[in-house]
Amino acid sequence: MALIIDTRTEPDRALALACETLGQGLPVAIPTETVYGLAADATNPDALSRIYETKGRPRFNPLICHVADLAMAETHVEFDPLSRRLTEAFWPGPLTLVLPQKPDSTIHPLASAGLDTLAIRMPDGFSRAVIRRYGKPLAAPSANTSGKISPTSAEHVEADLGDKLALILDAGPAGVGLESTIVKVEGDRIRLLRPGGLDVAEIEALTGIPVLRRDKAGAAIEAPGMMATHYAPAAAVRLDASEVRPGEALIRFGGAPLPGEDEAVLVLDLSPSSNLREAASNLFAYMKRADASGAATIAFGPIPNEGLGEAIIDRIERAAAPRE
Ligand code: TXA
Ligand code: MG
Repeated sequence: MALIIDTRTEPDRALALACETLGQGLPVAIPTETVYGLAADATNPDALSRIYETKGRPRFNPLICHVADLAMAETHVEFDPLSRRLTEAFWPGPLTLVLPQKPDSTIHPLASAGLDTLAIRMPDGFSRAVIRRYGKPLAAPSANTSGKISPTSAEHVEADLGDKLALILDAGPAGVGLESTIVKVEGDRIRLLRPGGLDVAEIEALTGIPVLRRDKAGAAIEAPGMMATHYAPAAAVRLDASEVRPGEALIRFGGAPLPGEDEAVLVLDLSPSSNLREAASNLFAYMKRADASGAATIAFGPIPNEGLGEAIIDRIERAAAPRE
């Protein structure tokens, strides 16, 4: 079983053991502000292989590389001026940039699945302190079995991967709760590859450039890991429910009851006060609770398609996609 260290009470021990474990080529579950990540030395092919093995993740699905500071990022990727501006405004934070990898970068091709670009971000929170101390970039996908819901607490990680990991760092619930927003600058345009924890409207307000939405048909090529069933709970998922059917679990938003909810197995509200940030931070934990209720179907009430609502709806749509 994994050793779990609370970073709030034992930060020094957490840092020391994390660096020792990473140095042995083993993955460590680390808290980022978005979701918990399964981190490994991005320059070590054995360590990277272990990420794919531990998650059961296809190797054509590239990983995000996490850096502690801009200097570390610049060692590995080529910045254009617009991407640089985005880092100044939003790093550390829930924004990932896809940028050309430098020829002399030591990040191993297993991290990028052989692409000539790298997805890179500077996370906030304790994970950044780990990277700073370790001194090398860490590749980290979400710390869950491939195809399952991303973990927003150390308990989620333990329940899913606890017997496959040496070390889990616990910093409490992830504040953002959704994976990072991924964008790629193409000339003077910005393309959204994955909606996430940074509201796209903030990028548009900063740059004055409308962000191009992902073409859903072409998504497989743009961001290879964005498979439709990425966020599958065991239960079926019903979107935009206007009423609840007997035996369903309901996840709603905005505090107003839905017809039929007396007969629901469980009723959860992502944010009774209609706050989309709060809803984002609750989404994955509530999906897991609804799944654990034993209901055959999770019904979602309507969620406004604005701000972080875009990323929340994206994740619910993936959870509702037909299963393989
Ligand atoms: O918030 C997050 O982003 C979390 C935390 C742990 O940082 N990480 C995360 O990683 O969500 P992961 O592996 O679940 O998602 C990585 C996404 C995939 O959809 C992948 O296809 C895309 O990033 N990606 C990685 N490298 C890419 C590249 N070079 N070009 C386009 N997409 C890329
Ligand atoms: Mg993931």
